[in-house]
Amino acid sequence: MALVTTKEMFEKSIKEHFAIGAFNINNMEFIQAILDAAKEENSPVILQASSSAIKYARMNYLMKMCEAGIEEAGVPVAIHLDHGPDFESCKMCIDAGFTSVMIDGSKYDFEENVRVTKEVVDYAHARGVVVEAELGKLAGIEDEVNVAEDDAMFTDPMEAKEFVERTGCDSLAIAIGTSHGAYKFKGEAKLRFDILQKIKEKLPNTPIVLHGASTVIPELVETCNKYGADIPGAKGVPDEMLHEASIKGVSKINVDTDLRLAMTSEIRRVLAEEPSVFDPRKYLKPAREKVKETVQHKIKNVFGSSGKA
Ligand code: G3H
Ligand code: 13P
Ligand code: ZN
Repeated sequence: MALVTTKEMFEKSIKEHFAIGAFNINNMEFIQAILDAAKEENSPVILQASSSAIKYARMNYLMKMCEAGIEEAGVPVAIHLDHGPDFESCKMCIDAGFTSVMIDGSKYDFEENVRVTKEVVDYAHARGVVVEAELGKLAGIEDEVNVAEDDAMFTDPMEAKEFVERTGCDSLAIAIGTSHGAYKFKGEAKLRFDILQKIKEKLPNTPIVLHGASTVIPELVETCNKYGADIPGAKGVPDEMLHEASIKGVSKINVDTDLRLAMTSEIRRVLAEEPSVFDPRKYLKPAREKVKETVQHKIKNVFGSSGKA
């Protein structure tokens, strides 16, 4: 079984200038779609679950489904807690067999973020688990925390260095202009690659993580809207910018919104075009296929992790 931490895949990503996709999971169809895509592309991949995803799917089901899929996929896969809100949530996931956890202390001031992150790092490292931390604030919705756009705060490169040294975290999520959800930019999409470069100069060997990195794929939004959705004016991070990030030092790229759109667009299409359908397999199968296609496109054409297993 290829259940691993992110240590080796991140080392390779830094050396060979590519990024690893971290895709959010909520149910069996997402897990199968992501792992089928990774297997076909011979790519390492990260399956990540938020606290609310764990509540929805239930820990035991989630772990068992991941383990079954990972065994079949045969590529390196990490199971990661996305946006762990506190020490207890991280501990629960470490004890359940996750190989990586994120402690999201970005809602705290610097000193409290250092304290809670260090507490998780000590517990995780003693058990062979790696830790992602976050410094800076993304605009938008993080799990159940809503960060107003005015409150979004880019990561300070000097602080980033001090933070990593004092906490011993294994990877760092930074704020350079992305945000969660389907509405990332009011005008033109813009990422602060200058800040990324400064952070990489200070921390050349620390894997950097980009949250809120969905493209909000226009065709998927169009299909949703064509078949009854109300998602006007949605906008994400263009593929070219994500590709640039992947070659300029970002090791992990988080995607949730695009997979939600992929699944929902197909379910809406099938139910609208075939009103007599009521067998869930008739819409979940094409929905799973659309999620797989979406993941495969990112791995192959955007993140550059094909063949890096
Ligand atoms: O960044 C947050 C992820 O998209 C997870 O969202 O808490 O609704 O599962 P969720
Ligand atoms: P998106 O909403 O852009 O998919 O971001 C997901 C994410 O950052 C999960 O942690
Ligand atoms: Zn996130």
